[in-house]
Amino acid sequence: VMTRPEDLIAHAPANTYVQTVTEVTHYTERLFRFRMTRPAEFRFRSGEFVMIGLMIDGKPLYRAYSIASPAWGEELEFFSIKVPDGPLTSHLQNIKVGDAILMKKKPTGTLVNDALIPGKRLYMFSTGTGIAPFASLIREPETYEKFDELILTHTCREVAELKYGVDLVEEIRNDEMLCEVLAPSKLRHYTSVTRENYPFQGRITDLIESGKLFSDLGIPPLDPATDRGMICGSMAMLKDTKALLEKAGLTEGANNRPAEFVIERAFAE
Ligand code: A2P
Repeated sequence: VMTRPEDLIAHAPANTYVQTVTEVTHYTERLFRFRMTRPAEFRFRSGEFVMIGLMIDGKPLYRAYSIASPAWGEELEFFSIKVPDGPLTSHLQNIKVGDAILMKKKPTGTLVNDALIPGKRLYMFSTGTGIAPFASLIREPETYEKFDELILTHTCREVAELKYGVDLVEEIRNDEMLCEVLAPSKLRHYTSVTRENYPFQGRITDLIESGKLFSDLGIPPLDPATDRGMICGSMAMLKDTKALLEKAGLTEGANNRPAEFVIERAFAE
């Protein structure tokens, strides 16, 4: 794996930026966060993803990554899984501050404010690294302007996997600058785990179906008149959660056809 900036710049494919890693935090054996420099000209919408890559055996290898930092951020942040034999993440998990990585120039994605019609309440349903696009959107002023209430749900196997989101929400609530541009009192963070003891347990799908999510939050069940949704997780989680939103009467939207909910796979392997 080629990680020296000067080597990568000499070998980088066209349409690719070479950026420098500025921070790496490992949360568990399965999850880590990293940040890197942002190209001055690079623009994206909060919630979008890009292709991140490494040069392995002389060839670039990319995987899609949601940008976890907001559109106004100075650096780019990512939240990644570590798969022991994953083609990219088995190498990416070893990156250090000062290493260089590749990023394709064009961002894209459906988990953006533009893909939803206005509403009262925005649900952001996430499992595992699926919280990444929402880490961007809960730091985006537009999200708070568009909705009266933001409900971020994050379900993981273990309690330690919730830490990235818990720390982020705490930072939003405690940071003076963020409190001024966002409206943290509108943000609610609902965490649950499925394979350990914890005050809130169970899959988000079960919590929606049983109504426990709504009674825990003290709000009415899903209603297309008021509620909008974004979903990010595994293929199975997307399918099951989408079915529940459709059952409640919400319609799926897209960038060119805004509607009541949008979905996107939590990428990377
Ligand atoms: P579970 O522990 O019951 O499998 P993963 O890391 O495998 O993507 O899982 C992240 C979280 O998503 C876990 O808490 C997992 O629960 C949950 N999950 C897995 N499949 C589904 C599904 N089809 N619907 C809702 N939640 C799911």
